[in-house]
Amino acid sequence: MKRLASLRSRLLVVVLVAVLPAFALALYTNLEHRRAAVAVAQEEALRIARIAASEQNDVFQDAQRVAFTLAHLPAIRTLNAEACRPLLAELLSRSLEYSNISVAAPTGDVICAGEPFVGSINLGDREYFQRALTTRPVAMSGYLIGRITKKAAVVMAYPAVDAGGTVRAVVVIGVDLRSLNHLAADAQLPDGSTLLVMDSAGIILAHHPRRDGWVGQQVSDAPLAKAILTKQGEGTIENVGLDGVPRLYGLARLSATPDAGEVYLVVGIPRSVALAEPNRALIRNLVWLGLIGVVVLVGARVVAQRLVLRHTEALTAATKRLAAGDLAARTGLASNNTELGDLARSFDEMAEAVEQRAAERARAAAELVRSEKMAALGRLAAGVAHELRNPLSVIAGRIEILKRQMTPGQAPTFDVLARSLAQFEEAAERMRRIMEGLSTYSKPAKPDPTPLDLGELLRATSEVLAYEARKHQVAINVDVPPMLPQVVGDRSELMQVFVNLVTNAVQAMGDIGGGQATLKAYTADGPGTPIVVAEVTDTGPGIPADALAQIWAPFYTTKTEGTGIGLSIVRSLVEQQNGAAITVASHLGVGTTFRLTMPALAGSSARPSTSALERASREYASPDS
Ligand SMILES: Nc1ncnc2c1ncn2[C@@H]1O[C@H](COP(=O)(O)OP(=O)(O)OP(=O)(O)O)[C@@H](O)[C@H]1O
Ligand SMILES: [Mg+2]
Repeated sequence: MKRLASLRSRLLVVVLVAVLPAFALALYTNLEHRRAAVAVAQEEALRIARIAASEQNDVFQDAQRVAFTLAHLPAIRTLNAEACRPLLAELLSRSLEYSNISVAAPTGDVICAGEPFVGSINLGDREYFQRALTTRPVAMSGYLIGRITKKAAVVMAYPAVDAGGTVRAVVVIGVDLRSLNHLAADAQLPDGSTLLVMDSAGIILAHHPRRDGWVGQQVSDAPLAKAILTKQGEGTIENVGLDGVPRLYGLARLSATPDAGEVYLVVGIPRSVALAEPNRALIRNLVWLGLIGVVVLVGARVVAQRLVLRHTEALTAATKRLAAGDLAARTGLASNNTELGDLARSFDEMAEAVEQRAAERARAAAELVRSEKMAALGRLAAGVAHELRNPLSVIAGRIEILKRQMTPGQAPTFDVLARSLAQFEEAAERMRRIMEGLSTYSKPAKPDPTPLDLGELLRATSEVLAYEARKHQVAINVDVPPMLPQVVGDRSELMQVFVNLVTNAVQAMGDIGGGQATLKAYTADGPGTPIVVAEVTDTGPGIPADALAQIWAPFYTTKTEGTGIGLSIVRSLVEQQNGAAITVASHLGVGTTFRLTMPALAGSSARPSTSALERASREYASPDS
């Protein structure tokens, strides 16, 4: 799952990488858009500044013309206060651009003015007034506060000169820069825009919107003022306004005031206003791109799930099942025509091959077990045939004796008859038991746990292997107590266990010229319940310590004729008996003991395992015949 999750996130990364250029393009386009918007706003500010400057210049020109006209009126030349006062008042009321119009004598004493005043006022000390007296025809002031009106103004002084060249009177017109406010309002500047008039000394002459106390302030240290002065009132700049708001500025110069120094008119549009549209567009584009990205991601996920992940998941699941031992696991993707389909097909083919091979191996193993058992059965049958010869020859011999005694007129004695009958009975019983051992061994392996006597099984084993033992000069000694508790197990399977163990013992001793095999059974204390122990001990060569662990493995053999599966079958048969266990102990040159333990059947009364008949029959098993 973890690997699939990382596959999923990799697909996600691929999609992101595909979407990223679109984001980059959107950002780049927006950057261009912003640049253009800034340029447009600056152009707009410049345009308005120029219009405003030109209109303000017109105001100054008009003021000059008015001053010129007034200077030629006799009432003014003669300094006739009575005549000029109503005239100026009337004129001022019609001219909103002027803060005041007054007429002064060459001494500077104001004779009459549009605005009423009390007492005497003298302008002789004003710098522009002195200039007007010397440098005719007109002089302009810088920014000043009118002595009569107390209003901020730029003042224009025009001398009335007679034919002799003597100055008779001076006409003084104050131009109220606040008229620029109307201009700014008319220009319909965007919200937050400003219009600033500043002279070359950095003094604010006018400001729109109105700010109390600003007019007349020297601001030459403000970054904006410095930038305006550097540009000398021409062109466009981007700067922080006097109120701290970043703006885009257009600069123009008022031309009508050369002798009073430069005056600059500056229009500023807030940067945020200029960039509002690009910002909106950027947000719009990013939102759209984000939405598209999400749709693409979801789509890619769905497609990846359908085309890739579903298949890799199926592959992973099938791999895991196969690894866990489920050989029937298949991907189910073999019909898919993609590379993954190819992979899945290869996997399925491989799984198929693995399954087939496993089945073949199982079949072969089963076949081997069966053939091993058949071979052993063949060997046993040959031995059994031998063993049957003994009781048969006993019977034949007895019959011969009886026949010989049955001469006409002479009947066998009772003793002879009784002994003969007893021998017939014993011979028949012996043959029955030999046949029973063989059939016990050959019964098909269908586990059928029943209560049984291990001692009796050991004895039956000795019967069926008697011939084999004799052949190898091996004496079999059965050591079983008369009373042995029963155990629960499969008769045929346990018989097979003992036949294998005893066969191995006989073969091992045969290799060293014979010996003694002891088949022993006894009870012992087990964990909780008593156990029955059955031992097969030989006096063979023993098993080397390093081989002890291997003897249980299938196909481990040290014999030229052996298959090596005898003990592996023994182990699996023992594992099938409830509670049974088998161990081996061996000493080189001394012999080997295989020990089978099984829980004693609770409540099973120990019973005599050997009958008188059986004891008698044992005579026939002795290796003397
Ligand atoms: N009683 C024993 N004494 C010495 N060696 C033994 C004894 N029993 C088993 N072995 C060793 O264990 C090996 C494996 O025994 P196992 O019965 O599995 O196979 P095998 O007897 O060689 O062949 P098979 O039983 O198939 O004819 C034997 O080849 C032998 O070397
Ligand atoms: Mg064997």
